[in-house]
Amino acid sequence: MTTHTSSGGPLGRLSLSSLISQRARSIDASGIRKVFDLAAKMKDPINLSIGQPDFLVPAVMKEAAKAAIDADRNGYTVTQGIPELIDATWNHLRTNVGWDGPGEHRSLVITSGTSGGIVLAAMALLDAGDEMIIPDPYFVMYAQLGKMTGGTMVCCDTYPDFRMTAERIERCMTPRTKAVLICSPSNPCGTVLSGSELRDIVDLCRRRGVLLISDEIYDEFCFSDMREDGHCPSPARFSDECLLIRGFGKTYGCTGWRLGYVAGPKEIVQEIAKFQQYTYVCAPSMAQWGVIPSFGVDLAPIVADYEMRRQMVVDAFAGVTNVPRPGGAFYAFVEVPKRLGITGHEFVEQAIANRVLVIPGNVFSRRDTHFRISFATKPDKLAEGLAILRGLMTA
Ligand SMILES: Cc1ncc(COP(=O)(O)O)c(C=O)c1O
Repeated sequence: MTTHTSSGGPLGRLSLSSLISQRARSIDASGIRKVFDLAAKMKDPINLSIGQPDFLVPAVMKEAAKAAIDADRNGYTVTQGIPELIDATWNHLRTNVGWDGPGEHRSLVITSGTSGGIVLAAMALLDAGDEMIIPDPYFVMYAQLGKMTGGTMVCCDTYPDFRMTAERIERCMTPRTKAVLICSPSNPCGTVLSGSELRDIVDLCRRRGVLLISDEIYDEFCFSDMREDGHCPSPARFSDECLLIRGFGKTYGCTGWRLGYVAGPKEIVQEIAKFQQYTYVCAPSMAQWGVIPSFGVDLAPIVADYEMRRQMVVDAFAGVTNVPRPGGAFYAFVEVPKRLGITGHEFVEQAIANRVLVIPGNVFSRRDTHFRISFATKPDKLAEGLAILRGLMTA
């Protein structure tokens, strides 16, 4: 460690931009910022851009979080997470994916959001030049993981049906591939991979000695036509070698609580916990207590409501443009009809001019041909927005 004495002038004379790392400079936030700048000027918008559920946090969870604060459980927790939550999560995984708890080879760490789990997994796995395959379209954070870790993100093009199949993944593999990151149900497309598609991906990764990472933040939002044995299909049912990343925020409407978990091979989870120790330290304490009762909450009525809204979206664009039918989450990725001769972001500018806020596809993709619609919005507003979008496509 070097000690510097202050020899510079006042802060105002520092050339701050020259202090910014290349890593930070290489990250461009302008796409999404442009949308939010436009949105800020909108009067009475119909907001179909929201990436979080529109229901309230279940009362039992609020009570548990408040009780933890009142009981003075406000300090650091152990890095791995409180044992009570770890036990409850293993109980859930036992019935949900058939993993029978920790053991010699398996472990679990509670993280600061699903994002925390994803970043720390990438840090634990990737050295400079190592490759991780991600879907395109992708959740916005995936594309930035390379810049944060020194690794390289390799986009697996999934257009036009948005299915990240073993065949498409294999075409992206090289000797430098270390991991494949899948997201089902997906943001931004709502795609749910079937059990048989996932089994093929598990087999491919095993054959090629590559780690499969499964971001299942939307696992509870899986619609009835895609459920298998009552559950959202997961590669964890066929393999205990994959890294399972899940969250509580989207599932229970508590995105601000910043809570998720990573479960899987002990050797890797231990490394993730090590990075957590030196970064986030632990996940928020009152939130850890707050989510313990979450596993007993019945989400069936909410999921049925979202399934009904999914149908509204599919019906609205039928015969007008292509929208692969979402199997879960609360998003659809809609193609801008080619006959309009405009890009995704040009269409979004028109939509915003007509009071409807959606996100251009190039925020989630190297292509600029689609837009993302979120149906986590009350049905009357959703219907109004859909009618306007359809009108723009048929005018
Ligand atoms: C696919 C996906 N993964 C991870 C996250 C991050 O979730 P969290 O709020 O739990 O960090 C999101 C949030 O939008 C997401 O859509």
